[in-house]
Amino acid sequence: MENMRRLIAGNWKMNNLAARAEQLVQAIDNHSKSIINNKCDLLICPSANLLQMISKQLVNSPIMIGAQDCHFEEKGAFTGEISAKMLVDVGASYVLLGHSERRHGLFETDNVVRAKVKAAHKESLITIICVGETDIQKENGETLNILESQINGSLPEAKDKIKSSNTIFAYEPVWAIGTGKTPTLTEITEVHGQLRNFLIKEIGPEASRLRLLYGGSMNAKNALSILNIDNVDGGLIGGASLIEDEFCKIIDIASE
Ligand code: PGA
Repeated sequence: MENMRRLIAGNWKMNNLAARAEQLVQAIDNHSKSIINNKCDLLICPSANLLQMISKQLVNSPIMIGAQDCHFEEKGAFTGEISAKMLVDVGASYVLLGHSERRHGLFETDNVVRAKVKAAHKESLITIICVGETDIQKENGETLNILESQINGSLPEAKDKIKSSNTIFAYEPVWAIGTGKTPTLTEITEVHGQLRNFLIKEIGPEASRLRLLYGGSMNAKNALSILNIDNVDGGLIGGASLIEDEFCKIIDIASE
């Protein structure tokens, strides 16, 4: 398996007003500039209202900017929604899709996620497709089935369109998100290995180059052991991405 450049992505969710966002971004940017031989890619996913401000702030920075969702239509009568084209217009180059807080909290189906992936790729956004099982599904031994069906349901039919340059997957067990609980290292090793094999079977050899992120209560304490697992090519980090010291420590670990 190739050694991939890691991606550390901060998912701010519905947090941070403009003044705090500016301060946090500045701290992360200053810190990452000070790392010699920075060996990882960095992504910040703020709420949509902050995208333009942050993209101006990071104009000379390698830190990339992503949105947390998009609509599947390009424009029209969809009150409250934001399209992939609009995200690109304000400086985003990535978008998270199918996050469990949208799948479970907002009843987003695989079909909707699939339509969003297509819309995002059309605008050349890099998609981070999130999948994960609930605690009950885990107890019932259904983890792999759930992940496979979420992936099959969320990928565009034309699998040859899935490239390492436009698609990333994030394994985020629903029960680990924001709870301080994480799977054991053995469990993450198993699931990421199974995901890799499944993606290769579905997509072909290109899937050996796709980045697979782990997400769910990753922090400065557990990042080293999680990031060193085979087939874990980075992290999608919620709570810990809101605290500069914590996030910068994770960046240091991923850059070693
Ligand atoms: P968490 O969130 O790091 O706070 O668990 C991760 C995510 O939801 O992407």
